Amino acid sequence: MPRGGPGASRLDRWYETDRPEYLDRPDTPREAARVRRGLDRLHRLTGGYDRFARWTLAHAGGAPAPRVLELGAGGGGLSRRVLERHPAARVTVSDVDAGTVAALRSGPLGAHPRATVRRLDATAVDAPDLAFDVAVFAASLHHLPADAVRAVLREGTRVAGTLLLIDAWRSPWLCVPAVPLMFVTGGPAHVHDGLISLRKAYGAAALRELAATAGPAPLRLRVRFGLPGCLVAAVSATG
Ligand SMILES: C[S@@+](CC[C@H](N)C(=O)[O-])C[C@H]1O[C@@H](n2cnc3c(N)ncnc32)[C@H](O)[C@@H]1O
Repeated sequence: MPRGGPGASRLDRWYETDRPEYLDRPDTPREAARVRRGLDRLHRLTGGYDRFARWTLAHAGGAPAPRVLELGAGGGGLSRRVLERHPAARVTVSDVDAGTVAALRSGPLGAHPRATVRRLDATAVDAPDLAFDVAVFAASLHHLPADAVRAVLREGTRVAGTLLLIDAWRSPWLCVPAVPLMFVTGGPAHVHDGLISLRKAYGAAALRELAATAGPAPLRLRVRFGLPGCLVAAVSATG
């Protein structure tokens, strides 16, 4: 299915790309490290982490001590903000990449009394049903093909009351402000991966289709636009 959804225009299909990002390639570790640093700077510069943390806590169902799972956490900036914003929140911060998890363990989150660092695959989460109030997967969904996204939707809504997906809003116009910003935050490597990310981002129509076909019962999905150019999708089981 096209990333713009089943009814994607010809222009949108042309805009889509199947080029891999440096982050997805084993042979470009230096460029990938630059992209990770660039993304971290971008989130800090645009207030991304703060917004993502606020949105995550707003979907925790009002629990007094919210149990939060971050999937695909990268450097863990979002989890750190969640812990700062909510004095009783407990966070499981995870990523599928072993090196990323090792770096998280040796950083401040590894020693935080309310944080647990784990290696988890968002498509097959090793956790019991409803172990969390909210699970969040930020800036990561576009890395996965449609079948893997369906698995994330199933697994995220199995282990958490709400799965919050945050990624780039699908629009070619976003490239205009994004390219200079990414150049400043992470140089050519960040522009390379950022442009591919924007072209691979799932549109709202695609997510609706994936949520309808992810499991035995359709999932409930609410999608909205969030500054600075994000798709924010809250997914939960029906019934
Ligand atoms: C672009 S980075 C985003 C990192 C962080 N969430 C942020 O906003 O800066 C994408 C992350 O998703 C992780 N990832 C990719 N596939 C994954 C999967 N199946 N399960 C969990 N994490 C995954 C990658 O290892 C990487 O750390």
